[in-house]
Parts: sequence; structure tokens; C-alpha cells
Amino acid sequence: MVTSKENVTARRKVSVLGATGSIGSSVRSVILQKRAEFEVESLVAGSNVDALVSIAHELNAKYAVIADETLYQVLKLKLEGTGIEAAAGLNAVIEAAIRPVDIVVSAITGIAGLHPTYAAVLAGQTIALANKEALVCAGTMLMGAAKKAGATILPLDSEHNALFQALNGNSTKLIEKMVLTASGGPFMNWDITQIQNATKEQALAHPNWNMGQKVTVDSASFMNKGLELIEAHYLFDVSPFKLDVLVHPQSIIHGLIFYGDGSVVAGMALPDMRVPVAHCLAWPQRLSIDLPRLNLASLGSISFLEPDYTRFPCLKLAQNALFAGGAMPTVLNGANEIAVEAFLKGVISFGNIAVLVENTLNAYQCLNSNNLTPVTLEDVDSINLISKELAQTGLSKVSSRAIH
Ligand SMILES: NC(=O)c1ccc[n+]([C@@H]2O[C@H](COP(=O)([O-])OP(=O)(O)OC[C@H]3O[C@@H](n4cnc5c(N)ncnc54)[C@H](OP(=O)(O)O)[C@@H]3O)[C@@H](O)[C@H]2O)c1
Repeated sequence: MVTSKENVTARRKVSVLGATGSIGSSVRSVILQKRAEFEVESLVAGSNVDALVSIAHELNAKYAVIADETLYQVLKLKLEGTGIEAAAGLNAVIEAAIRPVDIVVSAITGIAGLHPTYAAVLAGQTIALANKEALVCAGTMLMGAAKKAGATILPLDSEHNALFQALNGNSTKLIEKMVLTASGGPFMNWDITQIQNATKEQALAHPNWNMGQKVTVDSASFMNKGLELIEAHYLFDVSPFKLDVLVHPQSIIHGLIFYGDGSVVAGMALPDMRVPVAHCLAWPQRLSIDLPRLNLASLGSISFLEPDYTRFPCLKLAQNALFAGGAMPTVLNGANEIAVEAFLKGVISFGNIAVLVENTLNAYQCLNSNNLTPVTLEDVDSINLISKELAQTGLSKVSSRAIH
């Protein structure tokens, strides 16, 4: 039987949750190159009405949703007479996630992406997952629900996409090690005092990737790599003991699989999110798109080194949360969301992101020594809320002063 995934002649219907963001922009760019092959159903944004309207026009979407309900009238007015349906609020975001399509791109930032991603999973959709926080906070639930509902989760994060391709359908039981690479971020060669006192502008100046603010700060602190280890654990059902990180400043190799027979398969590409986007949008086929090609000879050499846990303590905090399991990954994520927001607002120093996250994990453990794994969305919401409240309370204890 030919399924819709194998039917290359049909136009693929796509919905994009987080259409106005950095990943959304890569999706838009690939679709614009291959207009004849894609049809856009739903587009979702948080509050940027103008960008949403412009993309909805450009991609000829059917349904445009703004999460902020107070912006419904503005959106409706701007879409009047276009034939594009306007809607607002969480229920509309969920409606966008479950309308039947060939692929739902999940690219809302933070835990706000969890409910719509979960709804798409329950609806049995094929999901190109960029939103790592959903898996970090509710990995067991999401993967279990996907199995039950017959949903497919395709990794859109560049490292996981590379690993997915390098695994090539093999079970992770057969592998010895799975390695995610990290660019090292903007502070790779800075000393610890400089890092702890880095400004917002310095943290946002990523050397290789152009991304949204939250993930860019996470990259600078190495929390992003920690979240990605947790994401990989759930996504590939791989033991935390087999997961490792290597710093690779050129961001050419994104992930490596070490097999027991001595073979090592690496996933390579230029650091451009259009590559994993194109892979996911066409899967299990391939698209040919116009973007710069990797030229290894012109690179000359590439390098690798071990991560530095002293200068980048967030990586160790995330690894500890991964090994502890239970509620810890959800607590880690909630605390980090508060810490990054506070850093971006100038309330705490860069170094205090790790301090606040660690204090919050400790405070949560004091209150909940049983560390129960969340089994429902309500459990996840409740752990997230407790973590965020603890982190908010902890904010006043960590100063915005420079650390010496
Ligand atoms: N950027 C990358 O290269 C990259 C790579 C790998 C993984 N990721 C992951 O992909 C996700 C998105 O990253 P990004 O860099 O694209 O972030 P971003 O540029 O900040 O974009 C976030 C998107 O989510 C929307 N949004 C925010 N809050 C929302 C809410 N409550 N409800 C509905 N939509 C909401 C935003 O809408 P507005 O514009 O209206 O605010 C925007 O469209 C993150 O989880 C990140 O870790 C990103």
C-alpha cells in the first residue's frame, strides 16, 4: 500500500507552530524554494501579529493563530478579505497542531510548546520536533503516547537529526556511544570570570548559528547541550551512560554513532537549519535545495575537545538531572527558563544562571524527596509551576552583581 509518506507526487501539507521564529524562518525559506511541493495549512505565533500576517500571505496559509488572545481582533482585522482564517489562544494553537497534515513542525520556544506538541502526538501526526523543552519535560509521556497513537517524531534539532540519519534505523541497543557535538559558543576561549560577567549582547553573539534568544543564551551557557542530551535519551531510547558531548568549534559534524564493530558514523552538514528542515519536510524522501554546499577541502581541518564543566556548570547540572530522572529534567527546564529570562532582562548575571538553576534543583529536592516521574500533562504543568515559583523566589537571593 502506498502511504502519504511514500506518495511523492502529492503536495505535502505542512503546519508550523512557531512560524515567526528562527526555525520558522528556515521552514519558510525551504517551502518558498519548493512551493509546488508544499501546501501550508496552519501557522502559529506567540504575539508577533505583523510577522504572522506577512508569512501567512506569503505561504498562502489557511489558518493563522496567535497565542496571545488579546491580539485576536488585530489579527482578524489584518486578515480580513484574505480568506485566511484567524484565531487566537491555546485552544486555537492546539487546533492548529491537530488539523490533519503530512507534517507538523513543532518550533515554539520553551515549555509553551509542550501542549500543542502533545496534542499533535495524540492526533497521530508526523511531527518535525525542534522544541526540545517538550521532550525534556515530558519525554516518557510523549514517546509513549507517540507509540500508542502511531505518531512519528522526526528530530529537527541539528544534532538529533544527524544522529537519526547516522543511526539509519538501527536500534540504540546495538551502539556503544552516541556523541552530540557542541560549538563551544561565544565564550569558548574566555576565562571563568569573563564568562560569569558576560553581557546579554556577548551571550547573544553566537559564532556559528543564528537562533532565537532563549536557545542562543542556552548555547552560550552549555545548558542547550545538556537539554539536548536529555532530548536524545528520550528520542532514541538510549541509556544516559552511552551519551556524550564533544566540543567541535566548526559545527560541521553534528552527531556521531559509535558501533560495537568499531565503525563510527558521523552526520555532517554546514551549520544551517535549512538542512535538517529539508530532511524532515521530505522524509522519507529527499529534497534538493539551493544552499551552500559543504567543502571539506576548503575547511582544511576540524577540531574536537572535551567540554569544560568548570567554566560551563550548566552542562553538569543537566547531566545530573538526566541521571536522576523523575521530575528533575522538568525542574531543570523550568528553573532555566526563569534564569534565562532574568538574565535577558538584566536581573541576574550570566554566571548566576547556573547558580539559580542549581539552587532551584536543590530546593525542589528538599520539598519532594520522592522525585516522582510525571505521568500526565497536569503533573508536568504542576512540576513546572513549582520549579518556576522556586526559581522566582530564588531570584532575590542571587544578585545581579558581577561575580569576582
Ligand atoms: N533556532 C535554531 O536554530 C534551533 C535549533 C534547534 C532547536 N531549536 C529549538 O526550536 C525551538 C524554537 O527555537 P527558535 O530559535 O526558532 O525560537 P524563536 O526564534 O524565539 O521563535 C519562537 C517561536 O515560538 C513562538 N512562540 C513563543 N511563545 C509562544 C506561545 N506561548 N505560543 C505559541 N507560539 C509561541 C514565537 O512567536 P512570536 O514571534 O510571536 O514571539 C516564535 O514563532 C526552541 O525550542 C529551540 O530550542 C532551535
